[in-house]
Amino acid sequence: MKLNLMSLILAAALVAGPAMADRDDNDDDDDHGGPYTVSDSDYYFDGEPDPAKVELGRNLFFDKILSGNFNISCATCHHSLTDTGDGLSLPVGEGATGLGVTRDLGRGSDAVHERVPRNAPPVFNLGAREFVVMFHDGRLTVDPSSPSGFANPAGDDLPPGLDNILAAQAMFPVTSGTEMAGQPGENLIADAAAQGDLAGPDGVWAQLADRLREIPGYIDLFVAAYGDIDDANDITYVHAANAIAAFETVSWRADNSPYDRYLRGERGAMSRNAVAGMRLFYGKAGCAGCHSGPFQTDHDFHSIAMPQIGPGKGDGVSGHEDFGRERVTGRVADRYRFRTPTLRNVALTGPWGHSGAYGSLEAMVRHHLDPVNSFHSYDRTQVMLASRADLDALDFLLLDDPAVSDAIASSCDLHPVSLRPRQLRLLLDFLHALTDPGSVDLRHDIPRQVPSGLPVFD
Ligand code: HEC
Ligand code: HEC
Repeated sequence: MKLNLMSLILAAALVAGPAMADRDDNDDDDDHGGPYTVSDSDYYFDGEPDPAKVELGRNLFFDKILSGNFNISCATCHHSLTDTGDGLSLPVGEGATGLGVTRDLGRGSDAVHERVPRNAPPVFNLGAREFVVMFHDGRLTVDPSSPSGFANPAGDDLPPGLDNILAAQAMFPVTSGTEMAGQPGENLIADAAAQGDLAGPDGVWAQLADRLREIPGYIDLFVAAYGDIDDANDITYVHAANAIAAFETVSWRADNSPYDRYLRGERGAMSRNAVAGMRLFYGKAGCAGCHSGPFQTDHDFHSIAMPQIGPGKGDGVSGHEDFGRERVTGRVADRYRFRTPTLRNVALTGPWGHSGAYGSLEAMVRHHLDPVNSFHSYDRTQVMLASRADLDALDFLLLDDPAVSDAIASSCDLHPVSLRPRQLRLLLDFLHALTDPGSVDLRHDIPRQVPSGLPVFD
């Protein structure tokens, strides 16, 4: 079968809008290359940040020194052994021990107070410039009119000098009591976080910089990575955040999937079934209406009637709902809308959805085909959560509330699509062809030890 790639590209360009059409104009070799191919220039630093900065970032990402109680690192929830997520529906934050599905809930007074209310997203390809919206509700976005360059939850407290939005993102997990800072009374960083003191002389970011300044191994790494750092006094948390972003950009770039190779002209790179699935994705199945562009996302917000599980974000009558995009815009029309995720490496990155409600990729895709019925017949046994009676009691509160269930179901922006079983399998074959084999084994990311001397392994 000879695929007419050009017609496919044109069809996709129509759904995806002008940005993609522009790319097409720039491409002379339509038959082989095409508008979707991703290259170095799509990434910050043209894909090659200073290796010294990357090495510093790698150490910081795996170092529990950035948490109030020295007990959790960025990697705990975005680990190389669990495909840059944690393998759970909802993360277990500060206070617990272990990794992935074996993570416990902590003991005694250190035990976790609540589940983290949203699924930990994968970090693949976020160093590509087009990702200008972060978090499931987009509360951090590129905004040249803000002093820091970003519209963000800390407003004008967010300092200038952040290299990109990924660096801006790295300023925030350390300020969350549940994720990394700990509870007030446990340590001075947690106290500052609880008072909302992020940027002050004794705020969260200054205290973290003080910690790093006292560790000789870090001083050497910072001096090697930055021209404007001569000695320990010059280190700031912004430098740390920029290094973390450089590490994420390089290590979790994923643009060598069978799909990428196919678009670069290697006709045999994708199976015939995956090619047929691609045509469905960009055609009859309507997926590219939202999952458009080189990374299969429009970076926009939609309600697809996803089952919400867990403690929620404090919204609604019960205080246990998550209003999604409305939390940022204040518009009721945006209630239950969440950002369209990229589908790169999606076969690796379950559980799926903003609260990790779906435990298999097939269930997640089936949900799209008939969202409202799928919502009402949601199978609760598929969640991946560590159990404790008081936390379990909140997990399905919303789904048991008929008024909330009706509201979520009727907010749905997604139209049902009728596919035959064979077509669903083809679509899944295409989603698997979005996996970069280089992302399957990421063990080489993990440092054997980190400058603080804190344990890297749980
Ligand atoms: C306790 C678990 C946890 C820890 C620790 C944690 N994260 Fe996350 N991370 C999350 C969750 C949950 C979200 C999504 C939050 C939301 O959308 O409201 C997230 C979102 C992100 C995102 C945005 C992804 C996207 O697609 O929008 C990035 C990047 C990220 N984290 C990097 C980091 C870095 C860097 C650190 C350390 C400084 C860190 N995380 C620490 C759980 C965690
Ligand atoms: C109306 C816009 C829209 C359309 C059309 C759409 N999706 Fe989605 N998709 C979304 C949104 C929004 C989410 C995230 C929902 C959430 O987390 O609440 C999502 C999530 C997903 C996920 C889970 C990704 C993850 O990382 O958790 C997969 C897989 C997916 N979509 C595949 C598809 C496929 C296949 C199609 C075509 C049959 C499709 N989507 C059509 C908007 C859409």
